[in-house]
Amino acid sequence: GKVAVLLGGDSAEREVSLRSGQAVVKALRNAGIDAHAFDPAHNPLAELKEQGFDRAFNVLHGRGGEDGTIQGALHYLGVPYTGSGVLACALAMDKVKTKQIWQASGLPVAPSVVVQKGQTLDYQMLLGELGGKVMVKPAQEGSSIGMSSAANAEQLEQALALAFEFDHEVLVESWLTGPEYTVALLGNKALPVIRLETTHEFYDYDAKYQASDTQYHCPAGLHEVEENALRHLAEVAFASLDGAGWGRIDVMCDKAGNYRLLEANMVPGMTEKSLVPMAAKAAGMSFEQLVVAILRHSEG
Ligand code: DAL
Ligand code: MG
Repeated sequence: GKVAVLLGGDSAEREVSLRSGQAVVKALRNAGIDAHAFDPAHNPLAELKEQGFDRAFNVLHGRGGEDGTIQGALHYLGVPYTGSGVLACALAMDKVKTKQIWQASGLPVAPSVVVQKGQTLDYQMLLGELGGKVMVKPAQEGSSIGMSSAANAEQLEQALALAFEFDHEVLVESWLTGPEYTVALLGNKALPVIRLETTHEFYDYDAKYQASDTQYHCPAGLHEVEENALRHLAEVAFASLDGAGWGRIDVMCDKAGNYRLLEANMVPGMTEKSLVPMAAKAAGMSFEQLVVAILRHSEG
């Protein structure tokens, strides 16, 4: 049948999604699949079936595409789609809700405080509670958009103001020293772990998509026991959110060297610099084989 590669959209991660989507269209076509780019920002989703599409490969990142919205719409239209369903996507899009599920499941996360827009705060006390330095994140965003660090009251005020431009709810998290890891999932199985090394203070938007000095290590350089423990943690974290098909779990170490789950991405990046393709390659899969495998998982 004909596959619609959903790309673009109108989230803050539109540009990333266009890059991801174009790579996916090309790879599916190389594999002999009749794939076409479909941007819901310019084409009504309701016309998918009329246009002859019988399946969707979703590469829309962020709000509208990764948050359960389009999953619900596709379900309603009767069009099978790649990746996780409504519940997993809605949960994973929200870093606060994700952490609550993981905490309730006994999984390791960093200490944090949730702040609502307009809430009065004692910045000094909040910093003290969280160890002096923090990472400030909008609850619902991707690609590190709206994120910054703070180590004093003035920086915290600025970091919160930035994050509140993107959401009414913000997560203030204890600073994690790293190293930072990411674990790609295909089906419900973890692929080899990737270790990220950035010259930036953290793995921000620029480090993700522009910088040439971001280093990716896969194999990650972990001992077998640690590698397996991390893969297992990612599989459990993914399953606890009801994740399916494919995804990516981001993890960082704290000062004591313990893994702390950061977040789940239910529609991870698929650009030439992206991490899931890198992990797949380490497992012996080409980009083309990876996209075909993701598509096959939606046929289950
Ligand atoms: N949010 C971006 C696309 C990622 O996780 O890869
Ligand atoms: Mg994300």
